[in-house]
Amino acid sequence: MHKDIQRILFTEEQIRTRVTEVAKQVDCDLAGKTPLAVGILKGGIIFYADFIRHLTMPLELDFMAVSSYGSGTASSGNLKIRKDLDGGVKGRDVLIIEDIIDSGFTLACLKKLLLERGAASVTIVTLLDKRERRTEDIHSDYNCFIIPDEFVVGYGLDFDEKYRSLPYIGILKPSVYQK
Ligand code: IMP
Ligand code: MG
Repeated sequence: MHKDIQRILFTEEQIRTRVTEVAKQVDCDLAGKTPLAVGILKGGIIFYADFIRHLTMPLELDFMAVSSYGSGTASSGNLKIRKDLDGGVKGRDVLIIEDIIDSGFTLACLKKLLLERGAASVTIVTLLDKRERRTEDIHSDYNCFIIPDEFVVGYGLDFDEKYRSLPYIGILKPSVYQK
């Protein structure tokens, strides 16, 4: 285990099992559609890559990069689009695939934006839900794990751009971000 990790919350195997289960459910529920799978960079990228490989319908891929954070551990309440989609969403069934829903600010903004651009539907899939911290009226349609109010890293999630490539999801030692 990495020295900055306090405790492993989900192992590689637990993640694989649960991601497969949720993806198969989405595959059933969206059968017959041609969704546009929108990955949210960078945190959602590993989850995205694992998730979409279980979808059997024709799928198109696109990406957005947004940030509301800077280098702290709480949302700044100001969403910046750092990279927009390559294509349009008008009439499309959009599947947003994101690492974590925390305050809900990021996903509430994104959903509103995509609906304003004319998406036929927006379905939100998250790896993690930190439900205790929600301030916005938004939920994910599919979520893999509910987690406590702790700062977690790994499997795509970072603190200050570090720890994304850890294969598991772990709680970061508070001493790392409190200094
Ligand atoms: P929200 O806008 O408050 O829902 O925050 C969502 C974004 O905050 C996510 O896309 C993550 O990038 C980041 N975030 C929230 N909690 C954590 C965490 O525990 N670890 C790493 N990133 C987090
Ligand atoms: Mg992040």
